[in-house]
Amino acid sequence: MLDQIHSAASLLARQREIVVLTGAGVSKESGVPTFRDALDGLWARYDPEQLATAAAFERDPRLVWDWYEYRRGLVRQAQPNPGHVALAELERWLRVVIVTQNVDDLHQRAGSTDIIPLHGAIMRSKCFAACLGEPTLIDVAGLAGFDPAQGPPRCPHCGAWVRPDVVWFGEMLPRDALARATRLAQSAKVMLVVGTSGVVQPAASLPFLAARCGAAVIEVNPSRSEITPTAAIWLAGPSGEVLPRLVQAVGEQLA
Ligand code: APR
Repeated sequence: MLDQIHSAASLLARQREIVVLTGAGVSKESGVPTFRDALDGLWARYDPEQLATAAAFERDPRLVWDWYEYRRGLVRQAQPNPGHVALAELERWLRVVIVTQNVDDLHQRAGSTDIIPLHGAIMRSKCFAACLGEPTLIDVAGLAGFDPAQGPPRCPHCGAWVRPDVVWFGEMLPRDALARATRLAQSAKVMLVVGTSGVVQPAASLPFLAARCGAAVIEVNPSRSEITPTAAIWLAGPSGEVLPRLVQAVGEQLA
């Protein structure tokens, strides 16, 4: 592992800019459960892939809203972990663009400055009918009498339900975010891929695109993933431990 960290750090230290693709694994050590983790307590009997769809919301807006309210509570309590912090520190030496599939705000709170959220933001809400265009963001905290414990509020413009501003299964990703992430993958010399299983498209195709266009892919994941066969270097461990060591090694090489 020491040798691999050293090789990965040498690769990074030669770059002016790197692209990082993150997934749920980077937030795991902050206590934010992934979709594919078994759900706790009250939510244990639900299949998350059946809660995170527009059809589920249409069928039972209250149920889906309450599930997101539970997840928002977990994100509010969570703090960036040493993996998030290390990625923010990497900006001392290189330009770092983080393409994330996560809907939490932990990269932002750790201090990363250039983040492309592919799957939206759980703390934001929007009109389900996109009445003023996609997304019609709604500041729910500013709605008179709004109580998140009472289910979704109504859009003040058109009366449709308000939903979380996240990308549900079967929905398109925000066009500009995906376009920029794709361009970055095509031009990257190095892509660092952290904590993603690489099974959800189109984000999962970005490391393959980068590798096809000549980038070295460095993966940080304690388990093998769909990305691992493409990775030039696989740093097998939790990102909260591996990333601080990697970033420290970059700093030592550039000192
Ligand atoms: N450090 C790094 N990686 C970890 C850690 C850790 N401490 N713990 C687990 N992992 C890895 C797992 O081995 C797995 O490969 O993180 C990955 C998490 O995979 P998923 O739960 O599939 O998360 P992700 O790839 O982000 O999912 C993509 O699917 O659930 C939907 O829209 C949701 O954005 C999400 C998308």
